[in-house]
Amino acid sequence: MVKMESDAFVFFGATGDLAYKKIFPALYAMVHRGGFHIPIIGMARAGWDLDRLKARARDSIEHNGDFEEACFAKLSALLRYVDGDYADPATFVQLKTALGLAKSPIYYLAIPPSMFSSVVRGLQQCGCATNARLIVEKPFGRDLASAQALDRTLHEVFEESSIFRIDHYLGKEAVQNLLYFRFANTFLEPIWNREYIRDIQITMAESFGVQGRGAFYEEVGTIRDVVQNHLLQVVTLLAMDAPAGHDSKTMQAEKLRIFRAMRPLDPKEVVRGQFRGYRDESGVAKDSQIETFAALRLRIDTWRWADVPFYIRAGKNLPITATEVRVTLRRPPLAIFDPSDAMPSNYFRLRLSPEVVIGEGALAKLNGEDMRGEPVELIARHNSQSEKSPYERLLGDAVRGDTSLFTQDETVEAAWRVVDPILAGGLPVIPYEPGTWGPDAAAKIVDGGETWHDPQVERSSPC
Ligand code: BG6
Repeated sequence: MVKMESDAFVFFGATGDLAYKKIFPALYAMVHRGGFHIPIIGMARAGWDLDRLKARARDSIEHNGDFEEACFAKLSALLRYVDGDYADPATFVQLKTALGLAKSPIYYLAIPPSMFSSVVRGLQQCGCATNARLIVEKPFGRDLASAQALDRTLHEVFEESSIFRIDHYLGKEAVQNLLYFRFANTFLEPIWNREYIRDIQITMAESFGVQGRGAFYEEVGTIRDVVQNHLLQVVTLLAMDAPAGHDSKTMQAEKLRIFRAMRPLDPKEVVRGQFRGYRDESGVAKDSQIETFAALRLRIDTWRWADVPFYIRAGKNLPITATEVRVTLRRPPLAIFDPSDAMPSNYFRLRLSPEVVIGEGALAKLNGEDMRGEPVELIARHNSQSEKSPYERLLGDAVRGDTSLFTQDETVEAAWRVVDPILAGGLPVIPYEPGTWGPDAAAKIVDGGETWHDPQVERSSPC
């Protein structure tokens, strides 16, 4: 296990999309916050030079928001660039020179998984992998078998404790707050189980399409893109037991226990949809069978959650952009005031993005002589303006060697085991109109007289 803080940051794929959208802004924010002074080496096979990389970094950061010339100058002074083929040992010789006296570098593979093996072997052969850490991006494979193969490749050179698999959802404040809210409060734990909770719904809706990423989306689809990773991670934070400590190992063990208790999905409890117009996107096949929407029911076979359905729904081109968890409680044993049973159940609503909101749905008496009530919602809003972006948070943690917010090989493989039965094909994709909540068939996933709760535009607090 590498103990010291990393003393050089090397990222492969420096001229790519991820570097432009996320990595440069995160590095800039780290420099801006102070305390980040290590050399930053961009790697690519693009025929670029350092000036061109700096221009790209400037453009990315200006595009992302606040830009200060003095801070950019500090970042720019740390930047180096190495151009070359990842299969060519000469590229790694150049990298070794660029690393200079660094003793414990961190390598970020912001490149397609098909190139991972050339890069890790290149690092090993040039002697650059000793005492080093590795950051890898999702997707970690396409299914269980390919994820296991990928892990074997990485483990040939890096120990598991030196591998940092990024799931940027885990770097979000609102997602970390799920854990905090559950275990820092006393009032939740007594009711956070099958005795009181009827079902849990998680909706990740995006009001936009594939935004020019048609070719990428054709390789993944919604289930691989956001369900196998982001949303199963959210489920785990909602479902896990309290860890006996907050060190990374104990936390990871509790999460893994839940992943292992998730029942592999039953194709009969999954609906796949595709928005009309997807097949006209550039890079998308005219007869594409890739889903841009998925709705499914997940079961977790533990003492706490037996028979409590976890409903997951995610899609592109839905009516709103919002990710929300809704935990619906069972009704009181007797309906004393409203025998018609028409009033809604109590619930917790946890809005994870774009706003951070916790709502508690309750019933309160209406003014008047009758014992009649109305639904009310108690709301706590979180102002997240000074929040670090998930990438800033996660890259900083990786450089310091803190593995708490990263996923391990066993967790990733357990998550693939859950979704594997529905990846093989055979489940139809049902068309839906952009701007709707997916195909009508998705309604059937939710049973017991329940319906999907569609996230609404969040009203801001009264002044
Ligand atoms: C990414 C997916 O991992 O997460 C995208 O590839 C998706 O398709 C994105 O839009 C959503 O993340 P966020 O942080 O923008 O909600």
